[in-house]
Amino acid sequence: MRVLVSDSLSEEGVKRLETGTEVDVLTNLSHEELVKRIKDYDALVVRSGTKVTADVINAADKLKVIGRAGVGVDNIDVAAATKKGIVVLNAPGGNTISAAEHTIAMMLAVARNIPQANVALHKGEWNRKKYTGVEFFNKTLGIVGLGRVGAEVATRMKAFGMQILAFDPFITEAKANQLGIKLTTVEDIVKNADFITVHTPLTNDTRNLIGEKQFAMMKPGIRIVNCARGGIINEADLAKAVAEGKVAGAAIDVFTKEPPTGNPLLEQERIITTPHLGASTAEAQINVAVAVADQILKMAKGQLPTTAINMPAISPETMAVMEPYMKLAEKMGKLIGQLSGKRFNELEIIYGGSVADKDLKPVTISAVKGLLDSMGRDANFVNAISLLRETGAKLVESKTDTINGYSNIITMRLRDNGHVISVNGTVYGNKDRRIVQLNDYKVYIPSEGNLIIATHEDKPNIIGPCCTALGEGGINIGGMHVGRASEGMPQLMILNVDQPVPEETLARLKAVPGILSAKLVTI
Ligand code: NAD
Ligand code: MLT
Repeated sequence: MRVLVSDSLSEEGVKRLETGTEVDVLTNLSHEELVKRIKDYDALVVRSGTKVTADVINAADKLKVIGRAGVGVDNIDVAAATKKGIVVLNAPGGNTISAAEHTIAMMLAVARNIPQANVALHKGEWNRKKYTGVEFFNKTLGIVGLGRVGAEVATRMKAFGMQILAFDPFITEAKANQLGIKLTTVEDIVKNADFITVHTPLTNDTRNLIGEKQFAMMKPGIRIVNCARGGIINEADLAKAVAEGKVAGAAIDVFTKEPPTGNPLLEQERIITTPHLGASTAEAQINVAVAVADQILKMAKGQLPTTAINMPAISPETMAVMEPYMKLAEKMGKLIGQLSGKRFNELEIIYGGSVADKDLKPVTISAVKGLLDSMGRDANFVNAISLLRETGAKLVESKTDTINGYSNIITMRLRDNGHVISVNGTVYGNKDRRIVQLNDYKVYIPSEGNLIIATHEDKPNIIGPCCTALGEGGINIGGMHVGRASEGMPQLMILNVDQPVPEETLARLKAVPGILSAKLVTI
């Protein structure tokens, strides 16, 4: 694997990458140079400096992964990467403590006017009255976004004797209770807090989450902190609220445009700023660089990463349990796709028995990947579901209690305008994967290899000539299944053959009197 590191990454991360990949560190590339060079690389590692836009992604012929040494992926066009089947992964957690501590440092600095007093004293001023601050004790802190950083800030700020109000639509009451925090609304926070700090990603829902309307509702003298992402708090509205004295001070680490040239937040003494330093500690930089390097090394070894944000994260423990089902589902998808070989308008997957209790997302993705692969689409674990959606076909998943004696069972049905192909598969003893039903026929075949799937009339002297046709073509038969749904109905014959069958040999088999259809599938 060739890896391009295009932002400055801690040496420990680069060294770790070098243990299993070929690494180029090129941190001063222009956007145009990046577009030109990216085609040579299998992996790209960035921090927030490199903008990985759609044109970079579209120029990346063999790129498999973009690793973000940090949390926010707003500098990466994740949708474009997903469409191209490129894994985007980050390093969550590695800089959480660093960001939480910086937030608290900023909150203390803005409460006690530390940066302004420092500058004044360096200029020879001794003005103790001007820089009188406020205490945290017995004050209310509003936290918007109670994820990793928000929760660490909350825990620490409780030690200062603050009452904490938090808003996070995705956090359960149970987690808030565990942290000893009251979940409430943004409006409640805005009306009652003495300090507000935001810790959400920047999304369509969080952009301008705090703006003119919210500033109007705030208590005079409130202090605001943003160490998450520029734009969650409207910059112009904040600058105005500080200028008017409604907001006593603000502490800002992140900006809508970085570096923030001409930004109104840089124009007032009561707004203190840092140049996106939340994650800038020696410890955090090592943590995130090593975490990303480890994920890329995993991928270089053909393993699935655990911190990808555009594919489901699968822990090694879950993987150990789910792998046989994922493989079975992928093979079943390939089988059903090759038998259909054409457009479809619905894929239905039904899970029964012990598999139904598990995390089925990776199994479903495997099924879709197998199906689309067999139809010539370049599907992988990242892009399979979005490729399926692009076709306009429906994906229907359900669970059933009807398991017909199997301990676990996966049924797939591919529908196209009333025509249905159906296949059932099961896993025995966590490793023996079998196809156990094809349309109306009960079968028992391994779920891999080259299979000739044929139907023939229910009469003697058909199977022998078929085997002769294959034998004369030099094809070895490793297994065979023959059966019928009921007497007089066509028989289904499945032959496991050791080699792909040349067209002419298959034609000889198809020409055997009584053969109704025959197809070679490779799964
Ligand atoms: P996280 O994913 O653990 O937490 C984000 C939280 O925001 C989640 O709990 C999520 O449910 C919540 N959220 C999402 N939409 C919301 C909404 N509309 N309203 C309220 N809450 C919402 O992420 P994290 O690691 O805690 O990081 C938080 C932010 O801080 C991210 O934007 C990250 O990029 C940023 N960050 C900045 C620095 C820095 O250097 N300044 C360092 C680390 C993280
Ligand atoms: C992050 O999202 O991880 C932080 O903003 C830190 C960084 O960009 O390096």
